[in-house]
Amino acid sequence: TPRVFSGIQPSGNLHLGNYLGALKRFADAQNKGIESIYCMVDLHAITVWQNPADLRRATRELCAGFIASGIDPEKSILINQSQVPEHAQLAWVFNCVARMGWMQRMTQFKDKAGKNTQDVSLGLLAYPSLMAADILIYHATHVPVGEDQKQHLELTRDIAAKFNHDYGVDFFPLTEPVIEGAATRVMSLRDGTKKMSKSDPSDASRINLTDDADTIAKKIRKAKTDPEPLPDNTDALDDRPDARNLVNIYAALADTTVEQVIADHAGQNFATFKPALADLAVAKLSPITKEMSRLMGEQDEIDRILTRGAERARAITAPILRQTYDIVGMVGPV
Ligand code: TYM
Repeated sequence: TPRVFSGIQPSGNLHLGNYLGALKRFADAQNKGIESIYCMVDLHAITVWQNPADLRRATRELCAGFIASGIDPEKSILINQSQVPEHAQLAWVFNCVARMGWMQRMTQFKDKAGKNTQDVSLGLLAYPSLMAADILIYHATHVPVGEDQKQHLELTRDIAAKFNHDYGVDFFPLTEPVIEGAATRVMSLRDGTKKMSKSDPSDASRINLTDDADTIAKKIRKAKTDPEPLPDNTDALDDRPDARNLVNIYAALADTTVEQVIADHAGQNFATFKPALADLAVAKLSPITKEMSRLMGEQDEIDRILTRGAERARAITAPILRQTYDIVGMVGPV
């Protein structure tokens, strides 16, 4: 039976890329009735320095973002990673299965470390091993993510396969990445060749889920574009990254295809298309923004939801950790 797992870092600035590439698709999976576990990965966040008060706030805000995006904490299991200790416990086992070279090859590690590979945390290098543990501690079969997580999910399969091979078992499943839809890679509004990201110093480069309607509309009006009108076929978008990005965003927000958006808007100038996109974005995002800020006033409710989520999660993770330890040869009981 399929089981979905995915995670998001509570490191501030949830943005349109996180919504379209992840949150919205999580809600879709949940609403199809697939058993789903969604996670705030606070242990991943601290692989780079986080101010403790900011981390606590970002974790609760992310929880509010999940719920406001349609994740129902009764239907899905909604958790904060550090509250389910089996994630970190399985990650240690995987640290001893995965190879240094696998970790050093990860593009996210190379991007984050830059030239300074000696003065980054050991956790930043081991990051993908904890990510594999997040997924495999549930024996999850499907992981919806944006395009940027693809390499980490390939590594997750490598870790599962090496564990199974080394111990001669068929225990961990080979997880399928689910990278689908028009917005698996939402680009910066200032530069269509760069990913929309929470760490971009320009706030105008992204739409934050906390932006009000005026800010959303203004950022879309100011988004970088070329002077040509929209083409009448999608191939003609290939060498127009800024235009392509706005069309992709439109399609994902409207729950339709890029082909359909082009069919409906061919020949339009951006002076016409951008206001239509701004209206659509405001209509879809402002209910989420409002619900997030309401929930942020209900901190006790958020904390209760996470405590309950962790209890439900541990009913799955504790037996899988125990079996893993048995396979590895740890004397129990744990
Ligand atoms: P994170 O926190 O960077 O991003 C969360 C999710 O948002 C997607 N995303 C995007 N999608 C489209 N366009 C963008 N510009 C964009 N930016 C971000 C990401 O692909 C991701 O799906 N390592 C993960 C968190 C993680 C995880 C896991 C994910 C930890 N454990 C287990 C899946 C399964 C990360 O840093 O995501």
